[in-house]
Amino acid sequence: MHKVAVIVGSIRKDSINRKLADALAKLAEGRLMFDIVRIDDLPLFNQDDEASPAPSVTRIKAQIASADGVLFVAPEHNRSIPSAMKNAIDWATRPRGTSAFSGKVGAIIGTSRGGIATAIAQSHLRTILSGHMAALLGSPEAYVQFKDGLIGEDGAIADEASKTFLQGFVDKFARLVEAMAEKA
Ligand code: FNR
Repeated sequence: MHKVAVIVGSIRKDSINRKLADALAKLAEGRLMFDIVRIDDLPLFNQDDEASPAPSVTRIKAQIASADGVLFVAPEHNRSIPSAMKNAIDWATRPRGTSAFSGKVGAIIGTSRGGIATAIAQSHLRTILSGHMAALLGSPEAYVQFKDGLIGEDGAIADEASKTFLQGFVDKFARLVEAMAEKA
């Protein structure tokens, strides 16, 4: 089974994006092992500290580097990714030449209650990551509109149509991760 580092861009306790990540982990069971990357204890990025980073920075870089793929679960804050998520990405990609994302495949997903969900944040994120990842899943795009009842009490996707779509997303990402791991 392949390991996927999961970066959820929200650090709040009842995050709907964290709930989505946990529900996706259930859909990936037996194929991908999701490993949530903690980002709430990272210092604010400061280039002065790149050479001697905080232990939390070293930890996330090692965690990401040890994974076969990276799943980015992006909330949208003011039409972009939350600052906590950008902060984590900035640390993970520095110093130059030591990016934890180097050679990794990834996928982007995210949820909000808005009509276009986190589409604009995801577009920004794709641009941010384009110079770092070996490949990002291009299709399907997954702009998940969060609604009551989407995720059940058991933490699994409860809506059947959404479950079918999200299973397809997870399966395509798993195929990408597996193909990359075979080549390595
Ligand atoms: C938001 N929210 C939001 N939603 C959206 O669809 N587009 C947006 O641009 C914004 N902007 C925004 C800015 C700020 C500062 C906050 C706090 C919130 C709403 C957002 O989607 C909602 O709070 C989600 O619950 C955030 O995801 P988590 O934290 O629950 O995972």
